[in-house]
Amino acid sequence: MIIATTIDEVRKQVREWKNEGLTVGLCPTMGFLHEGHASLMKASHEQCDRTVASVFVNPIQFGPNEDLDTYPRDFEHDCKIMEEAGVDMVFHPEVSEMYEEDLCTYVDIDVLSETLCGASRAGHFRGVCTVVSKLFNIVTPDKAFFGKKDAQQLAIIKRMVRDLSFGIEIVGCPIVREADGLAKSSRNTYLSEDERKAALILSKTIRMGQTLVGGGERDSLRLREAMMVKLASEPLASPEYVEVVDGSTMQPVETFKEGDLVAMAVRIGDTRLIDNFFVGDPAIEI
Ligand code: PAF
Repeated sequence: MIIATTIDEVRKQVREWKNEGLTVGLCPTMGFLHEGHASLMKASHEQCDRTVASVFVNPIQFGPNEDLDTYPRDFEHDCKIMEEAGVDMVFHPEVSEMYEEDLCTYVDIDVLSETLCGASRAGHFRGVCTVVSKLFNIVTPDKAFFGKKDAQQLAIIKRMVRDLSFGIEIVGCPIVREADGLAKSSRNTYLSEDERKAALILSKTIRMGQTLVGGGERDSLRLREAMMVKLASEPLASPEYVEVVDGSTMQPVETFKEGDLVAMAVRIGDTRLIDNFFVGDPAIEI
């Protein structure tokens, strides 16, 4: 596995692969990898001739009161996971390689970024769209792989690719969960033992939501209320939102249909966790 730290190294290697007629897949990550990330890399390995993964904690997508400084990092362990998942090249740049000090060009998206996580994380999706655009320009992949856990991010990147004519296929991969149902996340590491138990309320609420939808519920307000009541049964949980939105515009809908998104953000102690399901996706088993 090649470890590249500069944009030039990545460009040179990708050019060689493309000259050989090989296709390239990209898996952008912020490191501290788990099976969720590995599933993206495996999908890329299956669908593309060569796989590039980036490991870069992107400062411009964190707000002033967010966890940039404490965001977990373990590059050595990340490398093991990437090797096993069939990654051919890792791009692991310093912040100074990615951003000039006087950076003043950003990629921003409206409408889709105004709801759900975007409502409380000002500037977050501008930071995501900017870094992902840069990675797309550096790696020029044929396909790029993103997890459905960050469902709003996935919808935003699909729209950005369409609106800016990137010509890259975006592949959304299913949420990977712990055996007890908790969606895998690098931030799960922040949870104390009691909080880890309490965090199960997210996947239990998702499961309950899927059961109601499976039983024919199509009214967003009723579904949200039932899910809020379930979340309220866990004293350590403070829900930030439970929303039902159109699967591509991320705008709230009164009644929902297949492909729409039921999403939630919940604080467990100081840790903000998200979980979701797309209406029509298979129910989670817990
Ligand atoms: O999902 C993430 O880990 C990040 O938002 C991404 C896409 C790697 C951009 O920094």
